[in-house]
Amino acid sequence: MSIQEDKIKALVERRKTAKLGGGEKRIEAQHSKGKLTARERLAMLLDEGSFEEFDMFVQHRCTNFGMDASHIDGDGVVTGQGTIGGRLVFVFAQDFTVNGGSLSKTMSEKICKVMDTAVKVGAPVIGLNDSGGARIQEGIDALAGYGEIFERNILSSGVIPQISVIMGPCAGGAVYSPALTDFTLMVDKTSYMFLTGPTVVKSVTGEDVTQEELGGAFVHSSKSGVAHFSADSEEDAISKIKKLLSFLPQNNMEEAPLLPTSDPAGRTADYLNSVIPDNPNKAYDMYGVIASIVDDGDFFEVHRNFARNIIVGFAHLGGRSTGIVANQPGVLAGVLDINASRKAARFVRFCDAFNIPLLTLVDVPGFLCGTQQEYGAIITNGAKLLYAYGEATVPKVTVTLRKSYGGAHIVMSCKQLRGDINYAWPSANIAVMGAEGAVGVLYGKELKAETDPEKKAALAETRKNEYNDLFCNPYQAAQKGYIEDVIEPRNTRFRVIRAFDVLAGKRQELPAKKHDNLPL
Ligand code: HXC
Repeated sequence: MSIQEDKIKALVERRKTAKLGGGEKRIEAQHSKGKLTARERLAMLLDEGSFEEFDMFVQHRCTNFGMDASHIDGDGVVTGQGTIGGRLVFVFAQDFTVNGGSLSKTMSEKICKVMDTAVKVGAPVIGLNDSGGARIQEGIDALAGYGEIFERNILSSGVIPQISVIMGPCAGGAVYSPALTDFTLMVDKTSYMFLTGPTVVKSVTGEDVTQEELGGAFVHSSKSGVAHFSADSEEDAISKIKKLLSFLPQNNMEEAPLLPTSDPAGRTADYLNSVIPDNPNKAYDMYGVIASIVDDGDFFEVHRNFARNIIVGFAHLGGRSTGIVANQPGVLAGVLDINASRKAARFVRFCDAFNIPLLTLVDVPGFLCGTQQEYGAIITNGAKLLYAYGEATVPKVTVTLRKSYGGAHIVMSCKQLRGDINYAWPSANIAVMGAEGAVGVLYGKELKAETDPEKKAALAETRKNEYNDLFCNPYQAAQKGYIEDVIEPRNTRFRVIRAFDVLAGKRQELPAKKHDNLPL
């Protein structure tokens, strides 16, 4: 064997060892917890043969606590580039078999290199997180590493899509990198996110809580909203990420890819002509409405289990990726509360940052009132959604299905917030408030003065009918040009696709500023 061949053999051997990370025993331990290794995860995520690894031979530089005696090539994270469905992505996958995936300074340098390259060439970053947090032996160096990552998360925000998948522990300050990214997905039962674990919680607050109760996938995808998605398994997580990417552009200078469809743009949906119940207090299925409008009925929901009184997610309309925001009359009557406002605001801002047009389907009775909401700052949180719609410059099409009352009417992408094309169904009620409330305010004294209960009820009914005739329809708004048209519900798909076609060339600038001051 020549010297050169010898060297090549040594390279191959070294690669083989590096690929084993912390070694066979630790890989087995990882599998026994129902978790895959970093490389197995990447193999599932990326197109076959597309992965090109960076920095396989990087090692940590720590000498504390005898760390200088143990070096593993790659140092706890696998990084590089590959493709998903033929589109370039940058990835990092923390390797729990190496020091529990804990973050060293060199490991952060590997992650930062991937993030910097992704911004340079304009492609998404997907991080697979499975880590015991800052590498304790490295002290402040590990914290500096997190700081470097956070700064890049911030600078990349709105430039390239950033996606975090939590596939194991994610604790301490480490949770803030996922929180800074656009979407976080957690795997049910094998991942958790919290600032401090159950033991510290017990000693500080006395509260007895399990890891799962404190920061499992269920908690964060339904109660806190920290996670946008939860997955039943790692395979499910990867397939959800691939689906999500199919709706996104590579960066903020591009548009999302068109998805050819055999679903005709002119398809009507007769069912929509009878979907609104006669009783205004009765709910109906908003998911059914969305499915009957979008291409092939395919709707990819974000935050499915959080603030379910509003629905947000992606679909294609005439092949074009579109963000959908819809009030859900089936949950809390579709009222806007703190969580619904936060959820929708974040989604609207993401779509706007990445050139994804917005379709808003309105059926909203107003904002939720009461001390709980006021003390929780419904004013500031509601303003977030107002702000998000008002600043968004992507094409915005709004369809009002039924109720659109008061402040909530304005917030839900009304004309004055630069809604481009606003339609209403004949069942729409666009008014300051519903008849019940309005009659109470306008005729309260008159009704109070009437002592005969029958006459009182009749009077209330008459006043309600007068109010309904005047305001509870879309024509006041149509007469004043606040909506473009009153449309037949069955034609909604056709009309919104045509509207987005017309708006495809929309260009709108915001006034020059350093940055905005979104009500946080
Ligand atoms: C160094 C670590 C480590 C860490 C785990 N390991 N976390 N090494 N620094 N932070 C090592 C363990 O010593 C062990 O090494 C191996 O990884 C596997 O860990 P186990 O404990 O055996 O695994 P498991 O039982 O599954 O428990 C996982 C764990 C636990 C829950 C994550 O290891 C743990 O509690 N780790 C500490 C978590 C933590 O408090 N991190 C700091 C958070 S504060 P051997 O050699 O024995 O296999 C933070 C600040 C960030 O991150 C600030 C950013 C601004």
